[in-house]
Amino acid sequence: MRITFLTGAGMSAESGIPTFRDALTGLWARYDAERLATPGAFRNDPALCWGWYRWRAAMVQRAHPNAGHLGIAELARRGHAVEVITQNVDDLHERAGSHEVVHLHGSLFASRCLDCGTAVVPDPILAGLDALDAGAREAPPACAACGGPFRPGVVWFGEALPEAAWQQAQASLEACDLLVVVGTSGLVQPAASLPALAQARGVRVIEINPVDSGVSALAQERLRMPAGAGVQVLLDRFG
Ligand code: OAD
Repeated sequence: MRITFLTGAGMSAESGIPTFRDALTGLWARYDAERLATPGAFRNDPALCWGWYRWRAAMVQRAHPNAGHLGIAELARRGHAVEVITQNVDDLHERAGSHEVVHLHGSLFASRCLDCGTAVVPDPILAGLDALDAGAREAPPACAACGGPFRPGVVWFGEALPEAAWQQAQASLEACDLLVVVGTSGLVQPAASLPALAQARGVRVIEINPVDSGVSALAQERLRMPAGAGVQVLLDRFG
């Protein structure tokens, strides 16, 4: 069976990564995640924004894939054609062993120069991450080519999605036999419009989320439970 997963921040919650609408702690408690994830936030206060993404990258590096990520990779090992369309900027699906992963909102581990787009190896967002704990303001490094500041490789609010990722996501939704939507509030467009593509083709939509979301209404089945338990239900059923 061709199974497409559309995943959001709730997918990684059991790995200890806060979702976007969870309150932040420490230095970040005064800030709203959505307000830090904009081109304007970076322009107004690059050190705050770069420091925030460095803190998130450090948290992701220390985290481990959870039962949900591992279960999705296991479904592929058991013979299903599994594709993962994720809004997450972490790499936990890949580290769990999933090979077909499309990142609609970019990656925490792909920073580049804001002005000329140059990327360098190793990625400066990773430098000294082991030492980062609560996070700190930190000026972004300057590009050796043009002197511009480095920015994280994520998609900010108001920016277009990477075109190739968006095309792949749509193709996956046009080809799947089952869509499983995991841990997304379904509020952020255009990602939130993808389940309707499957629904329009008469494809079954299953949602895994402890609470109702913006996409619940078009799911035929709602598994009101965390990602790990929900994916286990699928493994028991389709594995
Ligand atoms: P949100 O933070 O909006 O929503 C997280 C969803 O996960 C909520 O519906 C929760 O109920 C659900 N949830 C929480 N714990 C869960 C668990 N253990 N298992 C399953 N579900 C759980 O995150 P997203 O929908 O991913 O965009 O947010 C979408 C986009 O908005 C993000 O990619 C980001 C954000 O601002 C950009 O940065 C452009």
